[in-house]
Amino acid sequence: MATSHSIVTIVGSLRKESFTLKIAHALAKLAPASLKLQVTTLHDISFFNQDLEATPPADWLAFRDKLQASNGVLFVTPEYNRSIPGVLKNAIDVGSRPYGKSSFLGKPTGIISNSPGPLGGVSAAKHLQNILPGISGPILGQPEIHLNGVGDAFDERGELTKESLQKVLQQYLEAYAAFVERFNR
Ligand code: FNR
Repeated sequence: MATSHSIVTIVGSLRKESFTLKIAHALAKLAPASLKLQVTTLHDISFFNQDLEATPPADWLAFRDKLQASNGVLFVTPEYNRSIPGVLKNAIDVGSRPYGKSSFLGKPTGIISNSPGPLGGVSAAKHLQNILPGISGPILGQPEIHLNGVGDAFDERGELTKESLQKVLQQYLEAYAAFVERFNR
């Protein structure tokens, strides 16, 4: 049987009814057998503060351990004011330290942005592509995926019902699975 790769799937929104969270759950269901997506919200990650670096809080250490134990990282994010939400930047800052020992290093990385609006959160995804090189592993460049109009994509139970979107997610997951395989041989 093929190895199953564990993927920390980071959700960039804290909102209870978050579309981003629903997309992350849909991805976990649609993922091929070779990927096991761990949907990870950021409620428990305290503010990064350089004063605490010598004695890091337990929540920072737990997040770093989780990243280090994974075979890849998948960011699923909304766009806030043409960038990424502050909670996501905070988590990236926490995971990126200590200096030179980022827990994201070497992890094949995917980026999925979304928005109920027309532009699919593309600026948030582009900002991640600016932030991550240097502290992450290789970033999957193609296909790009910026999901627009996600507001009517789910039923009342939060299940993804929009078929066109399911297809796009599936195609992305196939490409990402091959990418993860390449860097976990
Ligand atoms: C937004 N929203 C938004 N949408 C977008 O497409 N581009 C943007 O720049 C912004 N900016 C923005 C800033 C702030 C502070 C908020 C609260 C919202 C709208 C956003 O896409 C919408 O609220 C989503 O529903 C947020 O994602 P979740 O929580 O549904 O995952």
